[in-house]
This record gives sequence, C-alpha cells and structure tokens, in this order.
Amino acid sequence: MKIIVTGGAGFIGSHTVVELIDCGYDPVIIDDFRNSEKFILKQIEGITSKPIKHYEIDCGNVKEMKRVFKEENPDGIIHFAADKAVNESVNNPLKYYENNVSNLINLIKVIEEYDIKSFVFSSSCTVYGEPDSIPVKESTPTKAAFSPYGETKQMGEKILLDYFKNKPTCNLSLLRYFNPIGAHRTGEIGELPIGVPNNLVPFIMQTASGKRNVLTVFGNDYDTPDGYCIRDYIHVVDLAVAHVLTLKHGVEQVHQPLVLNVGTGKGHSVLEVIRTFEEQTGEKVNFQIGERRAGDVPSIYADNALITSVLGWKPKYNLGDALLHAWKWEQRIQQLMN
Ligand code: UFG
Repeated sequence: MKIIVTGGAGFIGSHTVVELIDCGYDPVIIDDFRNSEKFILKQIEGITSKPIKHYEIDCGNVKEMKRVFKEENPDGIIHFAADKAVNESVNNPLKYYENNVSNLINLIKVIEEYDIKSFVFSSSCTVYGEPDSIPVKESTPTKAAFSPYGETKQMGEKILLDYFKNKPTCNLSLLRYFNPIGAHRTGEIGELPIGVPNNLVPFIMQTASGKRNVLTVFGNDYDTPDGYCIRDYIHVVDLAVAHVLTLKHGVEQVHQPLVLNVGTGKGHSVLEVIRTFEEQTGEKVNFQIGERRAGDVPSIYADNALITSVLGWKPKYNLGDALLHAWKWEQRIQQLMN
C-alpha cells in the first residue's frame, strides 16, 4: 500500500518511514530538504535495507505535486512538511502562514481528485496553549495560540476538519504531539537541528558533546515541584509507531475524524531531563539558570487514554532510553558530517 510522506526526510518523518517499511507499507517521500539533509535517505535505506523513493519538491508547487500524485496514486498521506520553530514564527510569520497553511490548502486541492483513504496530520500540544488543568485530554478546550506557529497548527486542524466533513470516504486523523525527542535505537537517524537548537534535548546533546559551552535553563522559579518547567517527552519511534497505527486504522475502517494526543502521559521537569541524561550516559551537562522564555507554559503533559483505547498504542521507550538513543545519534552525526 502506497503512502505519501511529506517531510519524510525530517526528524519525525524519517523515523515514520522506517516504521512504515517495517510494517509492509510502501512509503514515498516528498521533501524539498529545506530543513533536512539528503544523506538521511541513505541512512533510512541502511536501516531498512530497502530503496527509498523520493521526490525533491516543495509541497507548495501544485504542478509538481499533481505530477507526483498522478504517478504514485497513493492510498494514504502523512503530512509532516511544515516549519516548527516557535521563535522564528514570531519574527517571520508569513513564512509560517505560507508553508504551514497555504501549502496545506494546496495539498488538499491536489488530493481532491484521488481516492485517498487515510490522511494523517502533524498537530501539536501547542493548540492547548496554557491549559486550565493537566493532564490535557483531547476534549480540553484549545486556547489562544502563543505564536504564529501555534496559530498555524490550530488553523490546519480547522481547515482539515471543515474540508473532510464533505469527504466521508477519506479518514482524517489529527495527531497532537507532545515533545518528540530521541533517535532510532541504531543511532543511524535522529534530529538534525539547523544552527543553534531551540529545543532542550538537542541543546543538551550539543553541550555534552562540546559543540556548545553552556545550556541556559529558562527559569527555575515556576510553580512546579522542583521549580522547573514540566513537559511530556515522547520517544520519536513511539511517535512514529503511532502514525503507522493511525494510518492503518484510517485505511481499514471508515471513522469520524480522530483527534489524538500522542504523549507518554508522564511529565518530567527540565532538571529531571538533565539528570537522567547524566545518569544514562555518564556525561556532565554544563548548565546555568537564565530568565524564563516568553511563551513557555509551566507544565503540560498528555492524557493518552484515547489513543490507547482506539489504536492500542502505548509508548515502549522511557525518558532514559530516548536520551541514550539521542546521545548515540549525536556521536554518529560527528562521523557522518566529517
Ligand atoms: N528549555 C531550556 N533551555 C533551552 C531549551 C529549552 O530550558 O535551551 C526548556 C524550555 O523552557 C521548556 C523545556 O525546556 O521548559 C522544553 O522546551 P523545548 O523548546 O524543547 O520544547 P517546547 O515545550 O517549548 O516546545 C514543544 C515543541 C513545539 C511546540 C511546543 C508546544 O517543540 O513544536 O512544544 O508547547 F510548539
């Protein structure tokens, strides 16, 4: 069964392509490599021992996209291609509205002529804003977004829900990711941040490996048990598996649009993440306490009961596994880049 994976060379995309192949699907990657590297395709091929078909195309290029769909006639789509840096979205909102919203509309126009059975969209827990209660359920009301990036995820969900109301034969699923971290257990694929990392775990990796001198922790005076922010860190492979199960569910049975949290259901503070990394690897993380970062919510983690009951999904890896795998990948990057 053929599945188009937009952004399939990216962090979550590449791990999902591996899991799709493992489960007998035939993924085809569409990626313009603006936020990813071409050598990742070779890495995926190394893990799966299968050739990977890909098209180097911007998802906004309707003409080229139409050509690909005509050629591939896919059964399902997993749409990852999007920009995701919160800060950048504040400074360059049009880039986000264009890539995350206009290009989504373009993609919908392209698929109109095809009999797509399952459409899976990358959403984010950012749609909950600062929730009134935690853990957050899918029924927890969404709040005003903190950034253009957050707006684009809320808009994307709304556009798709409205559009697919009139498309009963195609099953829509919106996956709200919590904090994806880690890397493939082989250490052959993982996250490749461009420039200075925005996210905690890549920053820890680069500090421990000596690429950065010091990690600044954004505040330790939050109203949480240890004063540090709490997040739900999910191993990228568990997240990838959730995509495959979601896609399968969509292909196999007609269902109402699904909105699912994908998180572990456990919150960990920034300090716990640093200490767990140090325990797992024996490395030290040089860190200092800085000011709070604008837009950070003190604490958020998922209620994941729905995805467990609908898809039977449960995370397999814990925080320590994810950090160990990320560390393995960090060391591999040095070799691959040299
Ligand atoms: N943090 C630091 N120092 C850093 C980077 C992060 O202390 O250098 C802290 C943050 O303040 C936060 C925690 O680490 O408390 C996690 O921060 P990340 O940037 O790794 O992740 P976020 O929770 O901010 O962002 C994630 C996703 C976004 C999504 C957002 C919604 O990466 O795509 O959740 O809340 F929009």
